[in-house]
Amino acid sequence: MKRLAILTAGGDTPALNATLHGAVVRANQLEIEVLGILDGFGGLLATDLPHVPLNPLFAVIPELDPCRGGTILGSSRTYLDGSNPTHVDAVATRITRLGIDGLIAIGGDGTLNGLQPLAERFPCVLAPKTIDNDLGLNSPDEPTTWTKPLAEDPPLANEGGEPLAISEIVNYATPGYATAVFVVVQAIRRIRTTAESHRRVAIVEVMGRQSGYIALGGSYGQPDLVAIPEVPLDFGRFAERVRQIYEQQRHVVVVIGEGITDETGCKLGAVSPSVDPAGNTVFRGAAEAIKQRLAAVLPQSLFRGHASADAAIFTRKVGHTQRGGRPVQFDRFHASQLGGQAVDLLHQNRSDHVATLQWSNPTGFTVDGISAGQLRDRWGVVRPRRVHCSFFDAEQWRISPRGADYLRPIFTDAVGADDVEHLRGDLFDAGHLATGYQSVNVLLSQRIRRSDPEESET
Ligand code: F6P
Repeated sequence: MKRLAILTAGGDTPALNATLHGAVVRANQLEIEVLGILDGFGGLLATDLPHVPLNPLFAVIPELDPCRGGTILGSSRTYLDGSNPTHVDAVATRITRLGIDGLIAIGGDGTLNGLQPLAERFPCVLAPKTIDNDLGLNSPDEPTTWTKPLAEDPPLANEGGEPLAISEIVNYATPGYATAVFVVVQAIRRIRTTAESHRRVAIVEVMGRQSGYIALGGSYGQPDLVAIPEVPLDFGRFAERVRQIYEQQRHVVVVIGEGITDETGCKLGAVSPSVDPAGNTVFRGAAEAIKQRLAAVLPQSLFRGHASADAAIFTRKVGHTQRGGRPVQFDRFHASQLGGQAVDLLHQNRSDHVATLQWSNPTGFTVDGISAGQLRDRWGVVRPRRVHCSFFDAEQWRISPRGADYLRPIFTDAVGADDVEHLRGDLFDAGHLATGYQSVNVLLSQRIRRSDPEESET
């Protein structure tokens, strides 16, 4: 293998540059050229295939900083239409003409679904990423337990069964997740003190789509109640619990995953059933929906000193701050290892494979690789991994002891000393007042190359 291409697809994470960096460092060792395709699959679909050489003379370009959040290549939610063979063939031909022997897509479940048609014509592997932590399996045999297509799955996907053997989890954590939780936990702690001072109910909404891993990780912020999409909200009982906690401590902090559903499985946040170009439901408004329902049932007399229940309850979406900024040590280190592993998988001719991060005691974290087929259900679809029921105490709306066992390996040393030092030295750097932000997009633009569209299409 002489030359490979790499792209970042789907929603970004803080650890994408770290994965790119790890891949390029490994490619340098193997003397493989790496071309970064711009804007995810959008770049592959463009006839002039915009790209950036990431390791001229086998040295990493300086713009590729593993500590910088986001992706210098840009990302998009554009995917290949696998049902159109002419389309897929055109892409395969185009990249072959550039002398590329294999493709690494850094992405999540949506990317892997989109990558399959191309993998049938061209060597492709996936390096995982997603703040949602939903690429992987709770156990290797999980796909055989799904008896209905994803769209028909009931909301409580993981009901019943034995507590999970956490060392059997396939792809224990995805790069980006730890940093997202790092942001969420700080948000919860900051919201806590203001809710406490003003005797208010705070509803903090976090990302994750239909998976509650980010909300679960938020447990480190010690919220009073956590609601995850995997467990439909028994609203009557929930409102009563909010009332009890408020009576006791004159404020409440609730964390909810954006994809939570009501008792009937109806998404609380789905104001309209809109979908993004990748076919994902766009989640918005779950915290607001809960606020409205709480304000309607909680007696105003509970909130002495507030004009109304509505005024006493506030909502906060942590939003895209979860996806941005400098990755913490856990993400930097493992993202980089997974990038290197993806190069190795291609180099070993293991096309249609996924680089995975495994954990066991006493080995700790190690990288591995599995065939993408092992993640697919009987309909050929890679499903988002959901929080296993044994990780969550649905009676108390809190993390279970087994859930805490799951989180500990990730978070105990997730933040490095240099993360703290970076914050201390960088945030109020006086130079920031004198100079504006220097976008890496501008720096990188000088390196962008384009193939001749006519030549590539003939
Ligand atoms: O999948 C990652 C994610 O951040 C989800 O948690 C969230 O629902 C979605 O992307 C938001 O997407 P966008 O940035 O396109 O609004």
